[in-house]
This record gives sequence, C-alpha cells and structure tokens, in this order.
Amino acid sequence: MKLTAQQLTDYECQGFLVLENFVSAAACDELQSRAAQLVADFEPHGAAAIFSTREQQRKSDDYFLESGDKIRFFFEEQAFDEAGHLRRSKEQSLNKIGHALHDLDPVFDNFSRTPALQELVASLGYAKPLLLQSMYIFKPPNLGGEVTCHQDATFLYTEPMSLTGLWFALEDANRDNGCLWALAGGHRSGLKARFVRASAGGAKFIKLDESPWPVNKLTCLEVAKGTLILLHGLLPHLSYANTSARSRHAYTLHISASDSAYPPENWLQRSAALPWRGFS
Ligand code: FE2
Repeated sequence: MKLTAQQLTDYECQGFLVLENFVSAAACDELQSRAAQLVADFEPHGAAAIFSTREQQRKSDDYFLESGDKIRFFFEEQAFDEAGHLRRSKEQSLNKIGHALHDLDPVFDNFSRTPALQELVASLGYAKPLLLQSMYIFKPPNLGGEVTCHQDATFLYTEPMSLTGLWFALEDANRDNGCLWALAGGHRSGLKARFVRASAGGAKFIKLDESPWPVNKLTCLEVAKGTLILLHGLLPHLSYANTSARSRHAYTLHISASDSAYPPENWLQRSAALPWRGFS
C-alpha cells in the first residue's frame, strides 16, 4: 500500500489524494456495525437539553473538551426541538462519535492500525506517526448539517505542521448526501485560524487570516464506499448538508509526527493515562 511516486506528486500538488477501494466493503460494514452497537449502548439522558441554559452550555463544553481520550457522542445542531427533546431517534440524530475510538475500542483499533495503513502513512514520510484523533461521522439523512470550509490544522495544530487527515468513506458519498469538497492546491496558503482552549473556559477561534475562502473553486470529491481520501492538514475543505434520504457515514483518523510540538492550548488533549501512540 505504499504510495507511488506519481501519487505522492499528485498529493503534494493538490493537497489531497483519492484512493479507491482502499478498504474492503466487509471492513466498512464491520465498522458500521460496531458504531451501531456503541450507539445502541449510549444513553443520551442529560444530553437532550444542551444549549438551553448557560449551565448546560458549560456542561456541553466540558463534555466536548474532555473527549480527547474518551468515546463520546455528539448530536446534530438541528436534532433538538425548542423544549430540548430529540426530534428523531438517537440513531437518526447523531453527528459523530469522538475522539479516541481508535485507542479505546478494539474494532476501531483494528481498523485504524492495519499494516496497509501503516505502510501508506510511512510512505507519506512519517518516521514516527501518532494517531491523534478519530471520529465516526454519521451525516444522517435530511439532518446532517453543513461543515463549513476549514483546515484540519486549525483544530490539531502542531509545530511544525505535520497533520494529515485520513477520511474513509464507509458509504458512497456524493453531492446529495454531503460528500467532501476541497480546494486543490489550497494547502500551500497559510493557516487561517486556530481553535484553542479559552482561559475563561470553553474554546475559541484565534483568527490568523480574515480573508474569505474561495468556496466557488472547490473540487467535488464524490467517492464510493471503501475509498480513502488523504487530506493535507492545511487543505481547505468542507461538506454541505445531507439533503438526501441516505446517510453518509465516514470514519476519520488524524496523524501527526511525534517529533512535532503539540501545544497545550490545543482544544484536544490527552490525560497521562492514555498517551498518544502510533501503529503499534
Ligand atoms: Fe475536516
């Protein structure tokens, strides 16, 4: 699964690379089944009233900020009615599970640490990679919201920049159910923002460049189930809302180099009990 010289050239030029059939349909199905089991076991009481009071906002912030070394469940913004109750079943309302599935769940661990993936990441130039973060993204039918244009290094900033996103399509992704769109070559411009812990609690964006994204120049990345898309950490990308009757499940892993600095103000942190590790 080593990248060829041409693939590396394409990746360096575009900032993304589409690898069709990287994962078998069976492996995609196994991950979906495991996610469904985790959701079935998840009891959403208490989460159903988020955002309705300041205290609940604080709890919601803490739930998010403490999720770097846990398996936690996050709802779509539109999942709740005015009274704070879920409009649909929890299965049809979730935005994602994050952010340490790959270290805490054996099925996700296996999916995230295959020899093929290790070889691929090594061929990108990582001598000692760290698996920083994992997310299972649901993008539920007719509810999954837009993810506005961003660079993943905003959220996982390292010095020097060493971030790569691995985006696995667990289902076919097209423009109707909210596939990725990316700005080819956009990774060569600088980082526009950082998302950091605020001293007063919660988290905030630090803007580094206020210029708008040229969202009319994005390339649509419609891909089939089993495709892996590599995303340079500085590549601008987005996904629109899922306006279809189909879900768009995806799994993402973010890799950094262990010899790059990871600032303590980054939103995602680990406790000493669960340090980041690589493929072994
Ligand atoms: Fe992203």
